[in-house]
Amino acid sequence: MTPVPATEANIAKAAALLRAGHLVAFPTETVYGLGANARDGAAVARIFEAKGRPRFNPLIVHVHDLGQAEGIALVGEKALHLARAFWPGPLTLVLKRRESSGLSDLVSAGLDTVAVRMPDHPIARALLKAAGFPLAAPSANRSGHVSATIARHVADDLGNRVAMVLDGGPAAHGIESTVLDATGETIVMLRPGAVPAETIEAVLGERIERALEGGVKPLSPGQLESHYAPRASVRLDANRVEAGEALLAFGPDVPPARGPVINLSPSGDLVEAAAGLFAALRALDKSGATSIAVMPIPNHGLGEAINDRLRRAAAPRG
Ligand code: TXA
Ligand code: MG
Repeated sequence: MTPVPATEANIAKAAALLRAGHLVAFPTETVYGLGANARDGAAVARIFEAKGRPRFNPLIVHVHDLGQAEGIALVGEKALHLARAFWPGPLTLVLKRRESSGLSDLVSAGLDTVAVRMPDHPIARALLKAAGFPLAAPSANRSGHVSATIARHVADDLGNRVAMVLDGGPAAHGIESTVLDATGETIVMLRPGAVPAETIEAVLGERIERALEGGVKPLSPGQLESHYAPRASVRLDANRVEAGEALLAFGPDVPPARGPVINLSPSGDLVEAAAGLFAALRALDKSGATSIAVMPIPNHGLGEAINDRLRRAAAPRG
């Protein structure tokens, strides 16, 4: 996929591709982002597929303006103060998700929070404006590779997994945004990045906590898990359903079941399955079943991340 110049016409084309559920890589002031419509679950699933990520990490949702941020998340007093000081810019705020956000569940990996950032790059801003919806965008590189800071690297790394790469020259910062948890009273830095902690503290007039202090990562994926572990027990690789069990099905051949059944994809499509996974787990959990039987899911492509998530849900609780 050869990078294209970010002309007005190409930005309009990129917005149309995003609207149709495709992925578009675009420049931001930190690194290039691999963008998808944050409200389209299948499009968000394709981000994980394109990156080859073996697990579902929550992604950053990029917004055009403060109004759009407030439409998807609850921006508290301190968060608003930070947003006014640093947006647009390389600061990401983890906030409570609004029920009415319309965001895909996958974008925040089933959590009730969402990471929001307003990028400061004319092309990113033009694209967000043309699209009219928020964009989920992790760094535009294959999993395990370094973040891309020029369009050529994005194209080399992702090839035809991305529908378009908008060229905006080299990214100014070259490192990712600083990620702050702004859901509580104390602001916690989850990831150091382009805005130094001291600069944030100067604006807030108070110290922020560092999640990385002492070498522990309080919000690493392992610890995020407990936030969305279903209450019901989870039984994997089920080919039949026991009494009292709900069924999380996959594919056309579903065993008979008396309780609630949700089929992640009757046609056996892993992108569709990934897009609906978190909502399905939550719905079956709410059904009151004490156990959820899960049909086998192929372990290739997105199946690897789906199975990773299901194994965590099935693991004994501490
Ligand atoms: O500079 C950047 O931030 C780039 C450009 C493209 O904007 N984006 C980026 O996104 O680095 P990503 O998805 O690779 O990084 C997301 C970071 C991860 O450290 C993730 O754990 C954290 O944000 N994160 C996202 N949502 C979260 C949530 N709800 N709770 C806690 N951490 C979250
Ligand atoms: Mg990254």
